Parts: sequence; structure tokens; C-alpha cells
Amino acid sequence: MRFTALLPALLVGVAAFTPPSTDFTVRSYLRTVDLMKSYVRDSSSFILENTGAEPQSSFYLAVNASYTDTESPLSAKLAMYEVKLKSDDGSTSLKYTIDDEVNEDQMKYVKIELPKSIAVGQSVTVQLASAVVRELVPLPKKIKQAEVQNLVWQGSRVAYIPYPVVKQRTKIKFSERPANAYSRFKDDPTIDGTVLTYGPYENIPPQTYEPIRVKYEYNQPLIEITKLERELWVSHSGGNLATEERYWLTNSGAELTDHFSRVRWQATTMAQQSTPALKAAQVHLRAGVRDVYFTDEIGNVSTSNLRDDYRDPVLEFRPRYPVFGGWNYSFTLGWNHDLARSVRETASEGIYVLRVPLLEGPVNAMYDEADVLVVLPEGAKVLAVDSSYKDMTEELTSLYSHLDVVGRTVVKLSARDMTDEHRRNELYVTYELSKDAQYRKPIRVATAVFAVFFAIILLGKVDVSISKKA
Ligand SMILES: *[C@@H]1O[C@H](CO)[C@@H](O)[C@H](O)[C@H]1NC(C)=O
Ligand SMILES: *[C@@H]1O[C@H](CO)[C@@H](O)[C@H](O)[C@H]1NC(C)=O
Ligand SMILES: *[C@@H]1O[C@H](CO)[C@@H](O)[C@H](O)[C@H]1NC(C)=O
Repeated sequence: MRFTALLPALLVGVAAFTPPSTDFTVRSYLRTVDLMKSYVRDSSSFILENTGAEPQSSFYLAVNASYTDTESPLSAKLAMYEVKLKSDDGSTSLKYTIDDEVNEDQMKYVKIELPKSIAVGQSVTVQLASAVVRELVPLPKKIKQAEVQNLVWQGSRVAYIPYPVVKQRTKIKFSERPANAYSRFKDDPTIDGTVLTYGPYENIPPQTYEPIRVKYEYNQPLIEITKLERELWVSHSGGNLATEERYWLTNSGAELTDHFSRVRWQATTMAQQSTPALKAAQVHLRAGVRDVYFTDEIGNVSTSNLRDDYRDPVLEFRPRYPVFGGWNYSFTLGWNHDLARSVRETASEGIYVLRVPLLEGPVNAMYDEADVLVVLPEGAKVLAVDSSYKDMTEELTSLYSHLDVVGRTVVKLSARDMTDEHRRNELYVTYELSKDAQYRKPIRVATAVFAVFFAIILLGKVDVSISKKA
């Protein structure tokens, strides 16, 4: 008797956790799914009211478990997830943790901490923004060279929320034209230009979702950078910050059914038609950029152009060949900046702070893997590394280059699953460098040059003496 009585309780204890749906009620949930880029951006805003019996200092949302599969790194597609509390004087980012457990709807709960608890009957305004990479698939998977590319997005017409929702609506935005095929229900959705609206729906029970599929025209490349190696070389003696970035890029759009025809390609380019092949990409660089270069396996690629707007210089580069779906292209971009633009000496002498964007790559790109290396001068000692982007591993190593004795200090940051929008994240490296160490290298270079020079003179003398003997 006792054991059977205990059994259900045990089962409950073992079953997956579900947030108590009575704690909160969600009002006016407005969600926008943005399909204008090569990755999916989802932004929502809603009112969260404490309709429970006690003050609450945290609440729950949920993410699709298929976006966070950490078993296989390439299927962890969630590139960004940001929850903010909106108030009259701006917004505050909230800390969150994504639960490991997957519930029966293949979702994972996200626990969000509030800076101060919400009293019973009170409400707050919450904003949620996320980005998911490698989620859009071309349909059909293969197309002819001059054919238009279509993509498919799958999701739910109602946002999955663990609380009852009084009213909600989902808008889906496209860049070029209205969707050409989508899930339909009675009067739902409505179309207005390039926006598809599902809802509004009223009084939706917790954990509701309803799968939908949307097919739309997207005649642009899906730029996926499978690997980026970004190096920032700090030189105090030269007063220079050199940036070099090596890219391994693939176009994850629709592949070609036939062989590539250059004749047809030239005709398309002449007519200025849009194409799902990557023919040019843009990179926004920081003011004061100089000595920009673009090379690939073959050598210098002459088809790059720097639009040198003072505030926003833009590098437009054209790969050596149009990169169609399934094709790869690897290349290197590099440039210089005066060190003073990125490095400041702090109030304490010999202590410097480097401040650079985390990424500076092509617009509208997704990144599978990125390593950012900051190469500090010989003898520099790293005091702190900080970034507004936290999801990175950090490593300190040394690197020896020609004429180095002590070795350069290298800060290596590695991250996965990002988008070009991570460029907004900054990276700070605080380091100590004595004046002595700053001049060590040039003196050594001068000594080395002198030694070589002297050796040549000596050899010359020897040579002369030999020729005399001969
Ligand atoms: C989760 O993602 C999968 C794959 O994209 C999709 O089929 C499913 O409908 C999504 N679930 C929800 C609740 O959005
Ligand atoms: C590479 O090409 C660019 C653009 O044509 C040119 O300005 C530059 O001098 C070239 N660099 C080298 C090293 O050949
Ligand atoms: C492109 O690169 C990937 C590895 O990143 C490789 O698996 C694939 O075979 C390459 N594709 C082509 C067409 O070379």
C-alpha cells in the first residue's frame, strides 16, 4: 500500500520540470520573425504580469531544443538570445540559463532572473531577441544557374510560452516579395506587402504551438563562414594595429543542377539581375583604415574597392569566381590602423587597454567557428580580457616570431555560431608593457641589421683576399 502510494510521487519527481503556469499571465505578445537575412531573427515584446500568489524574482521562456543540441556542435544553431527588461529609463539585459532537459514538446525552458522581484498584481515589459543560424533551407535543393532561389522556414504560428497568453500575434517579414507558399488556417494569415501576419489570437493556453511552414523567394547567397581566423597584431614601436583575417566560406544556398556556364553568367551580370551566387560582399571597416588587401590561394585579387567614407569605410570585394550554392571560397583580408585609435594608456603608466570589435567580417554572414587572436608585443603581460559577448573560450599562449626572444603574448578567443551582428560586441584587452620592452625589439632589429651588414663587409674582405690569392 505504502509503496504504491509513493510510486506516483516518485514518478512526478522524475518527470521533466514544468514552470508553474499560474505564476504569470502574458499580455500583448507581439512577435516578429525576420526572414530578410541569411539567418533567422526573432524579436518579441510582451507584458508579463504576476498573477500568482507570491512575489516572483524569475520567470521562464522556452527555446526549441533543436536549436541547442550541444551533442553535435553544428546543430547548436542559437547564435543569439537576449532578454531585456524595458523601463522608462532604457532597458536592462537579464541573466538567463537554458535548462538541459527537453520537454515533451521538444522545447527547453529558459530561466530568466529579474533584477528585483515583481509583486503580485504588478507587471513588467520584456523584450526578447534571438538569432538562429543554419536553419533556412533552399527548396528545391538544386536549381538552374539563372533560376530564382527559394527558402523554407519552419516554426510555430504561436510563440511557445509556459504561461497563459491573453493576446498574441506573429508577423513574418520578407525582403523581396510576399511568401509564395505558407500554411493556411481559415482566415489566417493576412498579407500586407512583404509581411505575413498570423493572429491575433486570444486566450491561448500555456505551452501551445502550431507548426507552420513558409516558402519564400530569397535570391541572395547564404554566406556561411565555416571558419574564421582573425588576428590583431599590436605594435607599440611601429604605432600600428595590423588586422589579418583568414576565411573559409561556403554558400549554403541551392546548388546548381547543371554545369556552370560562364556565358550565361556574364549575361546575368550584365542585366544586373539578383543571383543566389556570391559575386560581391561588403565589409564595414573602422575609420582610419589603410593598406587594405584581399588575397586568395592564387594571390592578390584586384577586384576589391574601398569606399573611403570617413566615418564608415566600406570594403567591397569580389571573389575570383561567383560562389554558387555548395561551393567554397577561402581568402584573406587585411588592413592597418594607427594604434592610437584602438589602444589607450591608462592612468597607471605602462598599462594599456586595447578596444576592438569582436568581428569585422562580411555583412549578412553566419559563422560556424571563429578564433580571434590578439598578438601583443614581446614582454607584454595580460591583466584582463573582457567582452560584452560572453560565450567564448579564452586561452593565453605565446608566439615566437623572427627575432623574438621572450615570445609574444597571444590572447586567443574561440566562439561558435555567430552572425555578422556580433560585430557590435567589443573586445577589451588590458595589458602591461614596460617602456623597456617597447623598445627592445627595434634595438634588437637594429643590432641584427648591423651584424648582417658587418658580416657582409667581413665576407667582402675575405672574398677580396681570396681573389687576390687566386
Ligand atoms: C522546432 O524546430 C523544428 C525544426 O525547425 C520545427 O519543426 C518545430 O516546429 C519547432 N517547434 C516549435 C514549437 O516551434
Ligand atoms: C593588389 O591589387 C590591388 C587592386 O588592384 C592593387 O591596388 C595592389 O597594388 C595589388 N597589390 C599587390 C601586392 O600586387
Ligand atoms: C567545401 O568545404 C567543406 C568543408 O568545409 C567540404 O566538406 C566540402 O566538400 C567542400 N565543397 C567543395 C565543393 O569543395
